[in-house]
Amino acid sequence: MKDDKMTEEKMIEEIKKLKKEKNAVILAHNYQLPEVQDIADFVGDSLGLSQQAAKTDADIIIFCGVHFMAETASIISPNKKVLIPDLEAGCSLAASITAEQLREWKKENPGAVVVSYVNTTAAVKAESDYCVTSSNAVRVVESIPSNKQILFLPDRFLGGYVKAMTGRDIKIWDGACHVHEKIGEIDFDESTKEHPDAEFLIHPECGCSSSCMLKSQVYFDCPSTHIYSTEGMINHVNESDSKEFVIATETGILHRLKKLKPESDFYPISELSVCEYMKMITLEKVFKSLLLEQYEVKVDSVLAERARLPIQRMLEI
Ligand code: 13P
Ligand code: SF4
Repeated sequence: MKDDKMTEEKMIEEIKKLKKEKNAVILAHNYQLPEVQDIADFVGDSLGLSQQAAKTDADIIIFCGVHFMAETASIISPNKKVLIPDLEAGCSLAASITAEQLREWKKENPGAVVVSYVNTTAAVKAESDYCVTSSNAVRVVESIPSNKQILFLPDRFLGGYVKAMTGRDIKIWDGACHVHEKIGEIDFDESTKEHPDAEFLIHPECGCSSSCMLKSQVYFDCPSTHIYSTEGMINHVNESDSKEFVIATETGILHRLKKLKPESDFYPISELSVCEYMKMITLEKVFKSLLLEQYEVKVDSVLAERARLPIQRMLEI
């Protein structure tokens, strides 16, 4: 036990040393393992991580998240070395549409504006007009001229949420994240009975977000329930007077929430809401990534040029 702790302490020390020597920065998503979040220079949601990647003056970015996030960082900062500690860290949602499928969809809907969630490959982004994250999807769609039809992809739940909030003419791709989709099968009424005083914070990728919306409870009639991106949840908890929160998203975010408000109680809607891709990044892999400068995520320059435009539009809005 003592040895394990020593090993981890030593590793943390080494990571800090290497980071300085190599002028590297560690960016971590809110779903990362607690020890990975704790060693990071910045922890945030997809939008925050993209913004950090755009403004950092580090030479190396160690991206503790999934592949599309590292790819986005590399597109935004092509002159930096972007490393992901495990190349297998993928995303089921990003895998739910290919560039070829998007080209076909565009052909069937000429003149439509393509809005892609950031959870997409660089090749899909290159076929898109706008990129969005869960924290700015509504704002970005509202900025598109109102006479335009919109193709939204790949998440059908986030798409349903955006359509309801904006009232726009939106066709939605039938994709989903395997973790958030399952949250839709959970009985929220049971959870409300268990935690009657809690606020419910729900990620828009959740399967439940559209069924709750159909019942017209969440967005309009239920003041203790809110739909947020992961960073939106952090901001909400920071400002809320509530002492209890039920969190409907990947459980990794609980670490940050508990650190932020140790006096409050946080309940995951399900302990099973775990993204195995996010959890592939371990402290040891972060250490090896820094030491051996592996694994570089680089996007072909022609593809990156095309994919940069929708991302830049998003960052400007
Ligand atoms: P956020 O942008 O809200 O952090 O979401 C990213 C993600 O992958 C959700 O599953
Ligand atoms: Fe992708 Fe879902 Fe994991 Fe987020 S939680 S990275 S959307 S598989």
